[in-house]
Amino acid sequence: MARPHTSWRCQQCGHAEPRWVGRCPQCGEYGTFVEEAAPVAAPGPSGVTASPQPVTALADVSVEEEFRFSTGIGEFDTVLGGGLVRGSVVLIGGEPGIGKSTLLLQAAGSLGHRGVEVLYVCGEESAQQVRSRADRVGAANGISLLPEVDVSVIEATVLAEKPAVVVVDSIQTLFDPGLDGVPGSVGQVRATAARLVRLAKSHGTTVIVVGHVTKEGSIAGPRVLEHVVDTVLYFEGASDHMFRIVRAVKNRFGSVSEAGIFEMTGSGLAEVAQPSAALLAGRDGGVSGSVVMATMEGTRPLLVEVQALVTPSYLQMPRRLAVGVETPRVLQDMAILERRAGISLGSHDVYVSVVGGVRVSEPAVDLPLALAIASALKNRPVGDGVVVFGELGLTGDVRGVPHAEARMREATRMGFGDVLAPASAASAGGSARFVGVRTLAEAVERTLG
Ligand code: TYD
Ligand code: MG
Repeated sequence: MARPHTSWRCQQCGHAEPRWVGRCPQCGEYGTFVEEAAPVAAPGPSGVTASPQPVTALADVSVEEEFRFSTGIGEFDTVLGGGLVRGSVVLIGGEPGIGKSTLLLQAAGSLGHRGVEVLYVCGEESAQQVRSRADRVGAANGISLLPEVDVSVIEATVLAEKPAVVVVDSIQTLFDPGLDGVPGSVGQVRATAARLVRLAKSHGTTVIVVGHVTKEGSIAGPRVLEHVVDTVLYFEGASDHMFRIVRAVKNRFGSVSEAGIFEMTGSGLAEVAQPSAALLAGRDGGVSGSVVMATMEGTRPLLVEVQALVTPSYLQMPRRLAVGVETPRVLQDMAILERRAGISLGSHDVYVSVVGGVRVSEPAVDLPLALAIASALKNRPVGDGVVVFGELGLTGDVRGVPHAEARMREATRMGFGDVLAPASAASAGGSARFVGVRTLAEAVERTLG
């Protein structure tokens, strides 16, 4: 069979070549060429080859009932914005080993259990491996398995079997026989994804695609797919930690501020009903360098412990190490501590970490972080039973943050008697004793002074 014509196009400037070249002769960029199917029909004299179609008024388009259906996994439904949408394409990205296959097999099992037909396409593991994992997570019934990597075979199977949901694990193993390039290359990933999207849209099949991201940044990974799919979820959390957080980063059918919290157990991923309690279990409130913070995970408040260790440095360049918070934020908070609260850290190594593998990237971590560092340096505990949140301005002022009320409610619910927060949050109410602070110096004075 003759291969369809393809061309190679620079993803930087759009220049096309008949074969792959390492450096674009037009814009000079390296490694930007991607194989594409060449247009087939030669345009007619007027340049128009297709016949016109009748158009429909948007208001006349019918919206099907049961547009959305539950996966049976509450946390997964939450991130999806209330369940799977028929005919949508969901991409689940994350590092290898984080739990993508486990979650999808559990979701497939749960869907199968409710009578929704699921086709599980496994390109990465053998049928036996999938079966043994399914046994482990209790999901063997109601799932059809297709060990296949050729996207045309997958298409044909879906058309014949008509499942409601297709799970593809993973996009990096698929290939389009019409194109050059090994599975996992940008060209193959884009082409196979485009065919899956077309399949979903034309037949109303819901497609869930796994995409691996590497620690070094993605090679032909989910990033190139983000704009072709409807929903992008990312799996976060160090694989050696208890918690796995699934976050929505794009959702055409829901909010992106949602997150699902799971825990990896011996029998698959378990939903964490009381994440604050689990994260704070085993905490010793009476030690220095430990501060409980109220952060937001999507629209839900979560209490996490921020820890700091400050030791005299024997290095010319004292060490600053951060786990779970961004290093630039730590450096900035240290600079504010030094300049605005008179706490000198120049001859000390500083280590900070958020316990439990949670990543906190919101500004509300500033005040808890600064207090944890000050507490560690002074070797004085901040006090048991106090929850802290607040952003720090460069002048040392404590600034308001969103969702103050939800944070305070969570503190009260978890039995914390005091809340140390921006003075502006006073109006948010809550039954915990509220201590409003205006500056970092004031916060240090009140907790450690
Ligand atoms: P996996 O879901 O295969 O990750 P991914 O598909 O994202 O690459 O596996 C995640 C890890 O979880 C793996 O190291 C094994 C572990 N695991 C458990 O601890 N308990 C279980 O029940 C299962 C199925 C996996
Ligand atoms: Mg996997």
